[in-house]
Amino acid sequence: MRELPSSGLQLDRLVEMLAGSAGKAWSQAELARSMKLSPAELPEVLARFRAEGWPLEMGPDQRVRLAASADIPVASRVRPHLATKRLGRRLHHTLKVDSTNDTARRLAEAGAAEGTVVVAEEQIGGRGRLGRTWLSRRGKDILLSLVLRPQVDPAQAPGLNLVVGLAASQAIGEVAGIPTDLKWPNDVLTPGGKCCGVLTEMNADPGKIRFVIVGVGINVNGTALPNAIAGQASTLEQAAGGPVPRPQLAAALLNRLEALYLVFLDRGLQPLLQRWVASSSSVRGRPILVKNPGRSLRGTTAGLSEQGALRIRREDGIVEEIMAGDVVRW
Ligand code: BTN
Repeated sequence: MRELPSSGLQLDRLVEMLAGSAGKAWSQAELARSMKLSPAELPEVLARFRAEGWPLEMGPDQRVRLAASADIPVASRVRPHLATKRLGRRLHHTLKVDSTNDTARRLAEAGAAEGTVVVAEEQIGGRGRLGRTWLSRRGKDILLSLVLRPQVDPAQAPGLNLVVGLAASQAIGEVAGIPTDLKWPNDVLTPGGKCCGVLTEMNADPGKIRFVIVGVGINVNGTALPNAIAGQASTLEQAAGGPVPRPQLAAALLNRLEALYLVFLDRGLQPLLQRWVASSSSVRGRPILVKNPGRSLRGTTAGLSEQGALRIRREDGIVEEIMAGDVVRW
């Protein structure tokens, strides 16, 4: 018997077909043909898919479809909600990756155009800021990375962190209908805790950005979170009181981000700072402790600098600006 082709790619193709066809029931012959399998090989692939926990339904006529609850952000589900020119026009959806940032980086290194997006249902090596792990739940969250090629000085790139956090909070407000609060530099919070984090990674030559990978993780559906983060994190479903459609949310994120990104490219961070500050309850007058390797800084937040650094008034009255760090005690 011939070896089945790479199982990951095959399942990705299956998901694109089933999730993209909004409840359509496929005959097994159609599925096998389109997946370039013999009819005898298909049951094994379907069994593997089911064994991984995907809600596959089979009618008495043996036709196959994905349960309506599987609201999967494949390209054909996201595209109808996109209003962008560049971002998300190429969207690679995949079931399982180490980190979508790594997949997007590999695509960028191979020349992927600005706006190329990678979305995954599961990450086994999800990364957060400051070397942390990003935990997520298969099939419930947004795990999305985007290739950007901004023609700005590398020194301006940190401003993108704020731009992406702001876009995420706007998209969540639009699709989930809940207010959020921004925590510098780019965490999005609901009253129950952090629901979204952003990891931007730059690849630059001296004086020139080659690309920036923007990774966004949003805890979307379900109410149970991994124990390690349950105390500090929240899901949109918890805050909204019901499930939130992931394809619409992914599209809204890209729509909002493109609009803000174009302002950033054209006029810099300055015109966006006021909007960011207005969306954060903690950027002014909040006692904090910033932890950086080898140094902690205690003080009260005093707004943002023109470059998007957090200004902190120390207990001796001196104002310092920080561009990175772990901000605690809000
Ligand atoms: C943070 O708040 O620490 C940032 C979290 C960023 C998580 C996202 S999920 C998609 C992308 N892939 C990763 O490995 N990380 C980012």
